[in-house]
Amino acid sequence: MEKFEAFDFFKKQKDLFFEKFIRGVRERENDFKRENLINILSPGRVNIIGEHTDYNLGLSINAAINKYIFITGYENKTDYVEVFSRYLNDSSKFSLDDITFDKTTHWINYIKGVLKEYIQNGYKIGGFSMVVDSNLPIGAGISSSASLEVGVAKFVEELFNLKVDRKQTVVYCNSAENNFVGVSCGFMDQFSVAYGKKNHVIYLNFKDLSYEYIPFDLEDNLILIINSKEERNLANTEYNKRRKECTDAVQLISKITKDKNISSLSDVSLNLLCELENKIPEKLFRRVKHVVTENNRVLLSKEYLLKGDIEKLGQVLFESHNSLRYDYEVSTEKLDYLVDEMSKIKGVYGARLMGAGFGGSVISIVKKSKIDSITDIIGGKFLKKFNVSPDFIECSFSEGTRRVKFKDI
Ligand code: GLA
Repeated sequence: MEKFEAFDFFKKQKDLFFEKFIRGVRERENDFKRENLINILSPGRVNIIGEHTDYNLGLSINAAINKYIFITGYENKTDYVEVFSRYLNDSSKFSLDDITFDKTTHWINYIKGVLKEYIQNGYKIGGFSMVVDSNLPIGAGISSSASLEVGVAKFVEELFNLKVDRKQTVVYCNSAENNFVGVSCGFMDQFSVAYGKKNHVIYLNFKDLSYEYIPFDLEDNLILIINSKEERNLANTEYNKRRKECTDAVQLISKITKDKNISSLSDVSLNLLCELENKIPEKLFRRVKHVVTENNRVLLSKEYLLKGDIEKLGQVLFESHNSLRYDYEVSTEKLDYLVDEMSKIKGVYGARLMGAGFGGSVISIVKKSKIDSITDIIGGKFLKKFNVSPDFIECSFSEGTRRVKFKDI
């Protein structure tokens, strides 16, 4: 039997959570059996490198992590879906005949959006009752939303015996976020959550969603996420602006080069990049430069990972941060401070902002033995400067979204 890192976490919650849920279920269904529950464990994700490359059809290296959203539930034989979020202590009920955007209960839209995708694509889905819990912090940039989407998708696939290819699940979840929730993200988050593999990272090409697993045994090291707790206020508007700048740049570059093969910034080579300097507006050039060099950094990182050269990999992470800071301009004072301070500490291989930017978290690779001193130094300095204590999240690489047996929990 497979061992799941999150079991301990959920075991501790058992009395509070499962027993209460099951009692509620028993009141309604005399013949209720624990075995009727479908349980899903859906991880968060980290992005090792390859930021703002997904919607530019480029490359990235990411992984699912051992922090999860947990979903349990059963078919209730009605036309209604009822969901209780134990994490948010909030609930919602809606009819499957009337799936509309909920302006007050924001989190339910991730679930509604996924269900709508499946229904629109002809899958038969009935009513169900579901409880959601989590140890994935919201807003930390480790994709709690993608984790919930893929978790819910897997839940309905299992509950109603739907045969859906995993890539298609990713596409449905991504479409739910873009078209129902209204956040225009690329494929990175949903893909990493669905395809994670223990002790491996995923080398992903967004041009065709082809991927390779690369073993990454952290051994004496770990992935440390530092959550600045800075709200990503601008994330949506600025993110969309960057996306538009990239599309504008593609048009301009294909006009200048008269090359019809340039359909995304990932078709721009390093040589062409050099030629473009002074031929396109300076700001646009920096955006292009980030994407082209970031793709190149992903290729280098892949090489270093295969060679087990963690020092060099760490250096590339710092370079990626500088590119995001100066060329793509998605960093903030707090994120820069964290990366700068991390770079001064022995035992830190590399660090950079992770995700869209404009707040959220920094990802770093650090020596396990140094973890206490690193968190002490950074926690202390950050508190003194910004009057906020950052959160530190240690993680390893885990399997993607999967069904788990109740007796194992
Ligand atoms: C957010 C989006 C992703 C990706 C990153 C930037 O996390 O959801 O699709 O674009 O930003 O790399």
